[in-house]
Amino acid sequence: MPITFEQVTYGYDGPGAGTRALDGVSLTIADGEFVGVIGHTGSGKSTLAELACAARLPDAGRVVVDGAPTADRRGRREARRRVGYVMQYPERQLFAETVGEDVAFGPRNLGASRDEARSAAREALELVGLSPDDLIDASPFDLSGGQRRRVALAGVLAMRPRAIVADEPTAGLDPQARQGVLDILRDLHGRGVTVVMVSHDMDHVAALAQHVVALAHGRVIADGTPAEVFSRAEELRRAGLDVPTAARVARDLAARGYAFAGEVPLTLDALARAVAAQAGPSAPRASAASPKSGPESESGPTPELEPGSGSGGGR
Ligand SMILES: Nc1ncnc2c1ncn2[C@@H]1O[C@H](COP(=O)(O)OP(=O)(O)OP(=O)(O)O)[C@@H](O)[C@H]1O
Ligand SMILES: [Mg+2]
Repeated sequence: MPITFEQVTYGYDGPGAGTRALDGVSLTIADGEFVGVIGHTGSGKSTLAELACAARLPDAGRVVVDGAPTADRRGRREARRRVGYVMQYPERQLFAETVGEDVAFGPRNLGASRDEARSAAREALELVGLSPDDLIDASPFDLSGGQRRRVALAGVLAMRPRAIVADEPTAGLDPQARQGVLDILRDLHGRGVTVVMVSHDMDHVAALAQHVVALAHGRVIADGTPAEVFSRAEELRRAGLDVPTAARVARDLAARGYAFAGEVPLTLDALARAVAAQAGPSAPRASAASPKSGPESESGPTPELEPGSGSGGGR
């Protein structure tokens, strides 16, 4: 489900009115793409997310979702039905008395019967790693922050969206839950869902996104592949952003005489491969250090250091 922004401007009313949260933003999110949106705090990421799913409408310019501008009723309705939006603050997203009702609300709204909606809710809860039996009758307000975040994600998944906009979906989660959420997003993407992930974590963006949009003060300052965007380290730094850990380590290693062939590694997995290639066959290896580890360690698997290193994009 393609989403395009054409010269979009948006400003909030109230205190601070007059400054634009988005200022002349143009970008294209292609069908089936995984897009990472990065930017300093207050740069306009959440505003962009809300405009992409028609929760807000532009003051000027157009947001076009699957060919229909969100300023038109039909476009707005389609965007709200088909673009799932996982809010930055899940407590704002949850409203029903029970988790089951909350997650079933979307499918019910799309016309599913009570039973269909309930089974979609159970399925979505399982998908996000929550036990429907334990939680379906719980109040969303009795859950931990991480559980709430996952319930909010389940509520979106239950609607089987064609695109999903997730605003800092891993914030406040423990490492395992964080990996779980990233795996879900990668999985959805693998099944053809367009994914837009807002994130402060450059490593997550580098591991998952095919396309990165960087914002600063409501404007797009970089838009391209991860390699293109993260090669502009100095501009990013000026905008309060950083490059992925692997790129930073590679830069330090390069300063100490390592020569990397090809592109700068953006994931720890790619960095490990690049360093191993540099070190050459005579360098000490794990198998030499532990001779009992058996012949398979000679060509053992690459260590899984990154969210993106497992099953791969698969697309
Ligand atoms: N509800 C609101 N009312 C008034 N101003 C707002 C509102 N929401 C956001 N803003 C302002 O709009 C600008 C962009 O905010 P936005 O929430 O889109 O930034 P962000 O990039 O998502 O930041 P963060 O990383 O902190 O989540 C900021 O200057 C912010 O103060
Ligand atoms: Mg935000």
